[in-house]
Amino acid sequence: MSASTQKSPRSYFDWNATAPLAPGVSEAVVAALTLPGNPSSNHREGRQAQALLDSSREAVADVLGAGTLDVVFTSGGTEANHLGLMGLARCGKGAVLVSPAVHPSLLAAAWRAGTEGDGCVLSPVHEDGRLVLSRAEALLSEHRPSVLGISMANHELGSVEDVEALSCLCQSAGCLLFCDAVQAVGRVPIETLVDLVDGLSMSAHKVGGPKGVGALWLRPGPAVESLVGGGRQEAGRRPGTQAVALIAGFAEACRSVAGRLADAPRQAVLRDRLAAGLEALGAILHSSGAGLCNTVNVRFPGVPGDLLVTGLDLAGFAISTGSACSSGTTEPSGVLTGIGLSKEQAMEAVRLSIGPTTQMEEVQSLLEVLGPILERAKRFC
Ligand SMILES: Cc1ncc(COP(=O)(O)O)c(C=O)c1O
Repeated sequence: MSASTQKSPRSYFDWNATAPLAPGVSEAVVAALTLPGNPSSNHREGRQAQALLDSSREAVADVLGAGTLDVVFTSGGTEANHLGLMGLARCGKGAVLVSPAVHPSLLAAAWRAGTEGDGCVLSPVHEDGRLVLSRAEALLSEHRPSVLGISMANHELGSVEDVEALSCLCQSAGCLLFCDAVQAVGRVPIETLVDLVDGLSMSAHKVGGPKGVGALWLRPGPAVESLVGGGRQEAGRRPGTQAVALIAGFAEACRSVAGRLADAPRQAVLRDRLAAGLEALGAILHSSGAGLCNTVNVRFPGVPGDLLVTGLDLAGFAISTGSACSSGTTEPSGVLTGIGLSKEQAMEAVRLSIGPTTQMEEVQSLLEVLGPILERAKRFC
C-alpha cells in the first residue's frame, strides 16, 4: 500500500451516536441469518427461529431483571419510545408531561400522544438537563397527566435523572412513568428500573448491538395497543415478522452489558481527563462529572461546533455536534436550547462520548491536536 493510500488510525469519540459492535455480535447475526424459518411458523424451521427469539428475549430481560413476557422487540429506541409512551398515554387519556431535554423521538411521541389527549406539557429542567423535581411535582398536581416521559440518561449532556424520586412523585400523583433508558444501558446500573417505571425503551446499537433493533419493556397491567395493524407477533403489541438476526445480535450485545458496567469507573477517569483538558483549552463545560461515565459536552465560545467536528475528523477523530439524528440540520439542538443556551451558543456545542475500548492515549492525542485546530478555527471565524 502506498503512503498516500494508507489509512491513518482513527479514534472514535461518538459512542452516544452508536457504539462499535461488541465481541461476538456480528457472528451471532450471521449465524441467525442462515436460519430459514419464520418464528411464527409451526414446523421445525419455524421452531428453531422461535427458540432463538426466546433465548434472545431472555438475554434482554436479564439486563433489566425482568420477565421475558414483558419485553417487546421493536425496530429501535425511536419506535420503542413511541409504542411505550403513546401506549401508556392512551391508557389514561389525560395530558402528557415530558422533559424538554429528552431525545427527539420521545418528545415527538409525547406531542402526538398529547394531541390525542389533553395536550403535552413541558416540565422545566436544570442546566444539566435533569428535571426540576419541585416543578415536576407542581405540574403533576396541576395537570394530573396520565404519563410522565423522561430519559434516564441524557444523550447529549450525559446527566442522569433521579428516577427513584420521580417514581415517588408519579405514584403519589397517580401518573404512569415512561423512561427512555437507551443511553443508560451498560453505563449505569438499571436492574431496579423495572420496579420504578411503567415502561422503558432500549436500543441495541448503543450497547454494541446492530442498528435497527431495540426493545420496549412494559409493566404487566396497562393494555398497551400496537401502533399498526397486522399479525399477532409480540403478543399483538408489535405486529410484523421479527428481525430475528438483528435480535440475536442485540441479545449478544446484552450479554456484554455486565462487562461494560464494570468498565464504567475506568471510563469516568478518561472522561474527567478529557473534560479537564478541554477546559484548559478554553471550553465551557455543559456536562458535569456527576453524570454518565462516558459523556463530555462543551462549547468553545466563538467557534462553531461543526468546524471542530470537521477539523478533528480530518485529524482522525470522530466527535459530534450533538445527537446524530439532528446532524445536518441548521437548527440548534433542542436539548441545549432547552437548558437555556442561545441559538449561537448551542451551535458551538460539541459532544465527545467514549466507550469500553477508548484508551487514555487517544484522549491525550485528541487534546494535543485540538489546540492547533482551535487556533485555525478562531482565525477563520
Ligand atoms: C436517548 C435516546 N433515545 C432514543 C434514541 C433512538 O434510538 P434508535 O436510534 O434506536 O431509534 C436515541 C438515539 O440516539 C437516544 O440517544
